[in-house]
Amino acid sequence: MSEKLKVGILGGTGMVGQRFISLLENHPWFEVTTIAASPRSAGRTYEEAVGDRWKMTTPMPEAVKKIVVMNVNEVEKVASQVDFVFSAVDMTKEEIKKIEEDYAKTETPVVSNNSAHRWTPDVPMVVPEINPEHMKVIDFQKKRLGTQRGFVAVKPNCSIQSYAPVLTAWKEYEPTEVVATTYQAISGAGKTFKDWPEMEGNIIPYIGGEEEKSEKEPLRIWGEIKDGVIVPAVSPVITCQCIRVPVLNGHTAAVFVKFAKKPTKEQLIEKLRAFKGVPQTLQLPNAPKRFIQYLEEENRPQVALDVEYENGMGISVGRLREDTVYDFKFVGLSHNTVRGAAGGAVLCAELLKAQGYITKKA
Ligand SMILES: NC(=O)c1ccc[n+]([C@@H]2O[C@H](COP(=O)([O-])OP(=O)(O)OC[C@H]3O[C@@H](n4cnc5c(N)ncnc54)[C@H](OP(=O)(O)O)[C@@H]3O)[C@@H](O)[C@H]2O)c1
Repeated sequence: MSEKLKVGILGGTGMVGQRFISLLENHPWFEVTTIAASPRSAGRTYEEAVGDRWKMTTPMPEAVKKIVVMNVNEVEKVASQVDFVFSAVDMTKEEIKKIEEDYAKTETPVVSNNSAHRWTPDVPMVVPEINPEHMKVIDFQKKRLGTQRGFVAVKPNCSIQSYAPVLTAWKEYEPTEVVATTYQAISGAGKTFKDWPEMEGNIIPYIGGEEEKSEKEPLRIWGEIKDGVIVPAVSPVITCQCIRVPVLNGHTAAVFVKFAKKPTKEQLIEKLRAFKGVPQTLQLPNAPKRFIQYLEEENRPQVALDVEYENGMGISVGRLREDTVYDFKFVGLSHNTVRGAAGGAVLCAELLKAQGYITKKA
């Protein structure tokens, strides 16, 4: 029998679900054994259910083609087959909240790509390099849910990944004010240029709900556990504009920062290069060796050249310079569907396994 943990993908036929399935091919710890989606797909093989909707650039893994897709709503049945699940279902926020907790209550940990539980006070929202200690709030969540091993953990929004890690690396200089504009790829809306031809040669200055997430989620990640819940930090203040641009993969952020203790440019670059976290120390399977790279060239980071840095799990930063209104400005880039979505969730699951929160079911 396989020693790997058995994984289910809720919403496995969708774009994020496909990314999970691609990233987990040949994973050393996890094996996709179960895929669930809407009743429309249930009962068909994965290959049939996805049909011409396969959006990855690599072929569909052979190991999943013949898996018979289950109905996500048959919670007990799906849960009985797996050690834990990744969630990427597209339902209403209330439905997602409920179904993720229903899985947790069957003693099945849920690592979610969805936003539904990001503000549930005892659900950790984690970037493993930034706030791995927030996973401890799971102990309080389990008490609320009445579970022994079932819980929900989430990853934050894709938009913040191009600047929140950078500001974390500069924490000791105390950033007080941040102004960010994000230039976001169309895959963040689950689209390709084939599905969204209006985006060719176009810019749309609106992404529903994105600015609020971009301003508030970093503060929750920098928060602390108090009385069994995560209490968000109050500083720095962040204001954002989020713009959809004609790029397939890769969210860029142009950012201005003011500090309480203004450092030199050299100090800031040194902090970026030296920044590492628990995933690097533990050498988790999907951890980038170096989380943040600083590029000296004036015309970097570029989406075409840099989005795949560290297989899409690293952050690229460049154009750091002093500013006449704020203290410094820079440009950051991250892969929105890898680090910003499924890859970030897989790294969270690796951390949870290393911390002992995800284990084989007895
Ligand atoms: N795309 C991104 O980059 C991105 C980034 C961050 C967050 N998200 C979030 O991640 C989730 C998935 O996004 P996606 O782009 O992968 O969506 P998608 O391609 O539309 O896939 C949605 C998945 O959910 C299933 N589903 C839809 N309606 C359902 C229902 N009523 N009951 C049960 N299952 C249902 C679908 O099954 P069928 O195939 O059977 O219809 C499919 O497996 C969404 O909540 C989205 O907001 C997406």
